[in-house]
Amino acid sequence: AAAEKGPFKHFMLKEIYEQPQVMRQVLEGRVYKDHLLEQAFGVAAAEVFDQVKSVQLLACGTSYHAGMVARYWIEELAGIPCHVEVASEFRYRSVVIPQDTLLICLSQSGETADTLAALREVKGRVLSSLAICNVPGSSLVRETDLSLMTNAGPEIGVASTKAFTSQLVALMLTTLALARRHGLSSEQEAEIVQNLLALPEQMQDLLKLDSQIEEMSQAFAEKHHTLFLGRGSLYPVAMEGALKLKEISYIHAEAYPAGELKHGPLALVDKEMPVVAVAPKNSMLDKLKANLQEVRARGGELFVFSGDRQSIQQEEGISVISLPPVSRLMEPILYTLPLQLLSYHVAVIKGTDVDQPRNLAKSVTVE
Ligand code: G6P
Repeated sequence: AAAEKGPFKHFMLKEIYEQPQVMRQVLEGRVYKDHLLEQAFGVAAAEVFDQVKSVQLLACGTSYHAGMVARYWIEELAGIPCHVEVASEFRYRSVVIPQDTLLICLSQSGETADTLAALREVKGRVLSSLAICNVPGSSLVRETDLSLMTNAGPEIGVASTKAFTSQLVALMLTTLALARRHGLSSEQEAEIVQNLLALPEQMQDLLKLDSQIEEMSQAFAEKHHTLFLGRGSLYPVAMEGALKLKEISYIHAEAYPAGELKHGPLALVDKEMPVVAVAPKNSMLDKLKANLQEVRARGGELFVFSGDRQSIQQEEGISVISLPPVSRLMEPILYTLPLQLLSYHVAVIKGTDVDQPRNLAKSVTVE
């Protein structure tokens, strides 16, 4: 197995670095020039997409966070209602499913027991079911009507990295399929396709921040609690950042939408609890900055991944890593990478078993 890791110390690091190539793999054959090739979803897909009036996403773990990001995209670009829920809850409650719902099950493995059970539970009550999955021939792919493979290649590290970003791209492709039937112009579609095709190069640039992030990670090694903040579609990215940190470094990490700070977590803030923020330069940045000032005012130490060199500067109590400019809809995909690297380096400093964290399994096939 050592050989398969190539020059990398862990599979997780290798998989983080594979992401530019994985972006190419998930887009290959799915876009042509400036548009989506929706045949990629299967021959029956077009007729299904024509009828979809709402979307229900189901998943567990990291895949659930991908679903949470997609909700922002689907409601904004396709303008149809989209719900997201963890499969373990959904399967056991009396759910109301709107007419003509497309059920999307997200799973790296395609074998997660709760996701499969949730699918079986409601399959007969939805318009159609779509699997977004990384394992061809998995139970999920066999049991859904439509499928879109993420083509990320085998993921060995228990903490999911490349599977997540490839799911996000697959979800954006799904969003385009729905949105082009609900007013998205071909110009808008072309712009998004260009943005997707630019991901490999942009990811390469982000990976160059690795040594800066490694240096930043030292501040976390002795800490017992951390808070991750984001707003909009970066809130699920903050959740995923917190999940990564707890999974592999065993440091308690929570994520909050920054606007909720004053409804609780501010009470926890002190210099012993580092606060990580994902802060791209978008229309929510001023709001987020105001939230970060609330943290600073209470002595909290900030670690900011910033898209705006001008307005967020390194100073006492604020460590900043500046990211290159990225297009708005791609923010959640790209801002994920520095958070993956952060948790990786913290775990390495702590000496944990990065690829096989204690008590966790790659695929949870029993309830
Ligand atoms: C386990 C893994 C996670 C994964 C989750 C869902 O908890 O450790 O990395 O996100 O299962 O797995 P799935 O294969 O359904 O995406």
